[in-house]
Formats: sequence, structure tokens, C-alpha cells
Amino acid sequence: MISSLDIQIEKNNQSRLQNIDFSNLSFGGVFTDHQARIAFVDGEWKTPEIMPYGPIEMLPGAKILHYGQGVFEGMKAFRYQDGKINIFRADKHHARFVRSCERMNIPGIPFELFLETLKSLINLDREWVPKEKFKSLYIRPFIFAIDGSLGMSTSLNYHFMIICSPVGNYYSEGIKPVKLTTMPEYVRAVPGGVGEAKVPGNYAATLKPGAEANKAGYTQILWLDAIERKYVEEVGTMNIFFYMNDTLVTAPLKGTILPGVTRMSVIELAKAKNIPVEERPISIDEVLEAAETGALKEVFGSGTAAVVSPVGLIHHKGKTVTLDQEKMGPLAQEFYDTITAIHHGEEEDPDNWCTLV
Ligand code: COI
Repeated sequence: MISSLDIQIEKNNQSRLQNIDFSNLSFGGVFTDHQARIAFVDGEWKTPEIMPYGPIEMLPGAKILHYGQGVFEGMKAFRYQDGKINIFRADKHHARFVRSCERMNIPGIPFELFLETLKSLINLDREWVPKEKFKSLYIRPFIFAIDGSLGMSTSLNYHFMIICSPVGNYYSEGIKPVKLTTMPEYVRAVPGGVGEAKVPGNYAATLKPGAEANKAGYTQILWLDAIERKYVEEVGTMNIFFYMNDTLVTAPLKGTILPGVTRMSVIELAKAKNIPVEERPISIDEVLEAAETGALKEVFGSGTAAVVSPVGLIHHKGKTVTLDQEKMGPLAQEFYDTITAIHHGEEEDPDNWCTLV
């Protein structure tokens, strides 16, 4: 058991909190007063440190900068009406973080060390957790290889860090439907690759195609599988759900998509509501056809940053199908309402989803 006594804390005595406009938060644009760091050196985790948020030192030869040996996670903390703070599904995020680390040959941080450090950080910056519903404290744990040598080998030493940022909606559209396009000339992940791990390169590689999609008027790319360029995978910042023939269909976890914690929550809630769920390959042609016949009722994405975000339009090879362009569909709205009510403690915690700080 790690007690708060085992965490070294250097307080920031020049808080920036009073300068923050909580009514106008861009995603990840501002950070709280403190950051946490735990070094993994000589084969062991050192004492966690919490210090003022600010620049970090790194050797120019650090392996993260050259070979990208690093992993990150995205989590959120929410405020209840009575002021309590809830970290949402901390155990599931930690488990995914450790799985991503395994894939990158990085030591997995023990859950207790991860959680106790995070709780101390949030406690110190608790005034930064937005008071308004639908806003939250976005938590970004990450780990990176610090060995300063260019040999193509696993780093022996790492820094694990956590930074936090008060956020509102992820998309500038708010929770209005987003527009997606496929880009069959590019792929996001290949079987046996790192598509299911939350690693920086997965995101960096989508920036160029993403910019092309934005230029053409789409919010994001709907990624297709790398082999047949036919099956829908995910959106890059969200998993994707199709509500068709009264069944919720989503791509299976076969190694090329991120195993989303919100995806898992939507599936668990759907099953509890007796909505049939199919995790199976779904082709873009099946989606377009279902849209044409009217079998496709709703499309929405799920993610920590995005929560539940409706999709209003899908474009594929010159063909465009439109869903409701103005608002969320009723099923997506139901998930959004339930999940946000759990976030803010207004609905019963289904199964230890909430960790109070
Ligand atoms: C998240 O949903 O937490 C993500 O990591 C998506 C992010 C790239 C904005």
C-alpha cells in the first residue's frame, strides 16, 4: 500500500486557476497547476513526485524522440453535485495502459502506484475539476523511454507522468453530429501491428490523412481494415457503433482497433437494456446499403474524450449517406445521458465504475 507519505510534493504557489475561463475550454488547451512523475530506473519504480506543471528535461538522444517508445492513456474525472470527485473506470484504463506498455516492451506500472499518485495529483488540483455538468478533468497518463542512446534496443529507464486538463466537448461541433469519410488509400493499423495499443505513432500517422479529410469538409476519417479496405474499424479518436435492424453493431477487438473503455461501457449498458449487440466485421457496403434501405437508424462514436458523439454523414468513394444532421439519435442520447449521469453521480454506479478521490 502506497500512502500519501510516500509521494514527494512540491506545491505550486502561483496558481493559474483564476485566469481560466471555464465557460470556454478547448480540448487539452490548459493544464492544471501540478504534474506527477515516477521514474523507472535500475529496474524499479522510484518515489512518485508531484511538482508544478512545466517543462521537463530530456536528453536529445532519449529513445522516445527517435524510436517512439512510449504509451499514453486518456481518462477523466468528474465532479458530483456534492463536490465529490469521481475517476471513471480507473481500473480499466490502467489495464489498457499496461497492455499497451507490454506491446511496446515497457514495464507495466502497478495499479496501486498509478492510482494513488493520480489521486494525490487530483486532490492537489481539485479546484480545477469543472463544477458544471458535461465538463470534466481530462487525465493524460503517459510513459516514455529516457535512455539517451541511439542503438535500436529497449530502453532500460522510463519516466511515467500524469498531466491534467479541464475540458468541455471534444469536437467544436459540441454534441452535434460529425461528418466522416473513409480514405481507402490510407490505413491506420495492420493485423499484428500496434493498432490496439495507445501509442503516439498511431495518432501521428493519421495527421496527414486527417488534414486532407478536414480540407474536404469532414470532421474525421472512418478507418477501413488494411487488408481488404472494406471493413469498418474505428475513427481514430472514437470507436464506432451502428444501430441497424434494432441491433447495435461494432467492429470486433481483433488487434487493429483500440479497445475503448467507453466502447466497453456502451456494450455493457446495451446488454443491461436488452439491446442485442454484435461485435463483428461490418463492411462499409453493408453500412451504405442499410442506410439506403432505412435499416440503419443511428451511427455514433464512443471515446473518453468524445463520450458519445453522433455521426450525421458518411462519405465513401463518392457516395454520401446522411443520417440526422441536426441532433443525436434517441439511442445515442440514451447512452450519453446514462453515461454522463454515472459520471456525475446522478445514476447508480453499475459495477465499481467510479473511484472517489
Ligand atoms: C481519448 O479519447 O482519451 C483519446 O485519447 C483521444 C485523443 C487522441 C483525443
